[in-house]
Amino acid sequence: MAQGIGYGKTILFGEHFVVYGIPAIAIGISTKAVVEVKPSKEMKYVPYVNGTIPELTMNAIINIKNAMGIKENFTVYLSGDLPTFGGLGSSAAFCVGLVRALAAEFHKKLTDEQINEFAYEGEKVFHGNPSGVDNTIATYGGAIVFKRGETSQKNKFEKINIGDGLPLVIGVTGVFSNTSLMVRKVREKKEKDEKWFAKLMKKEERIVADARIALEKGDWKKLGKLMLKNQELLEEIGVVIEENRKIIDIAMKNSALGAKVTGGGGGGCCIILAEDRNHALNIVNALKAGGFDAFVAIGGARPKF
Ligand code: PMV
Repeated sequence: MAQGIGYGKTILFGEHFVVYGIPAIAIGISTKAVVEVKPSKEMKYVPYVNGTIPELTMNAIINIKNAMGIKENFTVYLSGDLPTFGGLGSSAAFCVGLVRALAAEFHKKLTDEQINEFAYEGEKVFHGNPSGVDNTIATYGGAIVFKRGETSQKNKFEKINIGDGLPLVIGVTGVFSNTSLMVRKVREKKEKDEKWFAKLMKKEERIVADARIALEKGDWKKLGKLMLKNQELLEEIGVVIEENRKIIDIAMKNSALGAKVTGGGGGGCCIILAEDRNHALNIVNALKAGGFDAFVAIGGARPKF
């Protein structure tokens, strides 16, 4: 039996636009998927967490098994504390954890780059046309600026240093975020009006560039404002629902520095930037009083494997 871990993430800036080549800023969070593998007669998948789709997950497992050239059969056990309701990169965290566990069980020495590549093969099953940002941040953790290339080998990313990490709150809408459906919807809108979408891409690119500077300087007030600007663009492309708006409203009424949808949207999660951990806890309480689940996540601190 061998174990592998993949970390969750939030996209601070640039979701959806990253699919079309605009850089995105993603940061790892400490919640994680824990994957164990054990040789067995037949292939089996045993989740100890709610909300996974076993047939889909099995297809991702087979893709990764084939990509890694593993002939033997095995059982995969999934546990950990990473919620699977969408927006926090749970499928990518699973794929990365699985690649690590398989490498340990079948004695394959892999570089992080190879782990990332194999995990991408699994992500394709979950997301159809993934940009690769999720598996990259699940592999490396910390904070990255990610830019999609023409092929997954040409994806580029740079690590950025954000010190002790950001005091974030994850607000949970309770509505499952179907990333591939949202990506498809955005594509349809884009194809209907390419000019309009190109303008939004330009605006997003500016926001991401300014956000990187603010992050590196530790200017969280500016960062919060940029999150709200980014949220306006997410509204325009149609990936925000009423529950997302309510969460953002509660957060801002409780003096959050900024808040936005994170990941696929259409429900899923929002991220909220607080001043510090205590302020983050206050926002969590306000959200809970408003009927939403929420938790504090320190973003960007580099995980230890
Ligand atoms: O919903 P998540 O956590 O899987 O994030 C998806 C991010 C998108 O930009 C919407 C899609 C992608 O492949 O980058």
